[in-house]
Amino acid sequence: MALPFVLQLFVGCLAISSFAQLAEAHQESGEWDCDADEEARIVAQFLPGIVTVDGQADDWADVDGFEFPLRPALDPDEDKEYKSGKMSVKALHDGTNMYFMLQVDGEYLYTKGDDYKCPSVALMFQIGDDATYHNMGGCKESPDTCNSTSCRGHEVDIIHFSLGNSIPGRLYGEDLINVNSKSGGFGLVDMYSWNPHCRNTDGHSASGENGSTALNNWKAAWWHSSFTTHAGFIEDDSPYSSSGQKGTYYFEFSRPLRTMDRLQRDAQFSIGQSSKFSAAFWYLSDGKPWHGSEHYTIGCDWIPMDVTPGFSAQSKVATGSSWDAAAGFAFLLSFVSFCVSIFVGYWVSKTKSVSFTPIDRL
Ligand SMILES: *[C@@H]1O[C@H](CO)[C@@H](O)[C@H](O)[C@H]1NC(C)=O
Ligand SMILES: *[C@@H]1O[C@H](CO)[C@@H](O)[C@H](O)[C@H]1NC(C)=O
Repeated sequence: MALPFVLQLFVGCLAISSFAQLAEAHQESGEWDCDADEEARIVAQFLPGIVTVDGQADDWADVDGFEFPLRPALDPDEDKEYKSGKMSVKALHDGTNMYFMLQVDGEYLYTKGDDYKCPSVALMFQIGDDATYHNMGGCKESPDTCNSTSCRGHEVDIIHFSLGNSIPGRLYGEDLINVNSKSGGFGLVDMYSWNPHCRNTDGHSASGENGSTALNNWKAAWWHSSFTTHAGFIEDDSPYSSSGQKGTYYFEFSRPLRTMDRLQRDAQFSIGQSSKFSAAFWYLSDGKPWHGSEHYTIGCDWIPMDVTPGFSAQSKVATGSSWDAAAGFAFLLSFVSFCVSIFVGYWVSKTKSVSFTPIDRL
């Protein structure tokens, strides 16, 4: 009687492992080959009155960072990973605004006035439900046919921070008028896209549309740890530090949770909900200026970003997750003890069956 039990357990274990394999295989299917880290996620906690958007990271010291390897966006191969270290992403909100801090190690490189000879970063968020991480929204239309109707649902929100014309420690953004070229102006540029070839700056209309309500609500500042002064830099101080100094770049951002966008150009954040996010990093390889598509990203798919509520709701969430861990451990423990008891029972009954003699026969 004990043997079928052991068999059942064995079959059960087999089923569990083949289910895991199935899940893995499902994840790898599809035309875009992406081995996404399922565990990757960031949490933006309610922590009001902690950070100032000045590019400095000291005020973020007590906020947990989430570390991601940086791999080429177009070829996310482990061998081609950014060598100087991972990117740490920190996020929080104060009930009104979202805040982000991106930290990445890298030698100081700066060429005043040339964004392509300075590092740069971007954040990308899903707006439309159908917007994929891959191909920046993934709308199948060409630049001639993509518009807000033909690509409805594929909108992504991008904020790109280029350093060539930005003084460290100074605040950029929140432009009332989004200037510059159709795609990729300079400084801090708020964009939306349906795919890499259908990209526009917010406020810049695709044909026949009125973009006047979608402006740049972002603010940002940057810093490098090799700078020796915390006093205000001016443009004449460029390049602010000597070239090739080892250290860490800091990119700090903020934006209101909600914007007055009416055209699906801005991601909207809600407390208690999850958004989909990614971050990109451009860096000069061997001193050569970078190109638009030559960038690293923190993952080959969207990374969930939980915007958690404050106070009582927060402690409820915390209790829930710790209960899950405790329940999981208890289940594992009971499963192990169950297996042990079955084995002991089986072993005892097997050994006893040889020597056992009923008393009534004595
Ligand atoms: C959007 O593109 C589609 C397909 O190319 C076209 O039929 C439609 O008229 C365009 N709409 C606008 C508002 O331009
Ligand atoms: C865009 O806005 C301007 C000013 O409010 C208005 O005159 C114009 O008709 C609008 N165009 C469209 C296509 O809605």
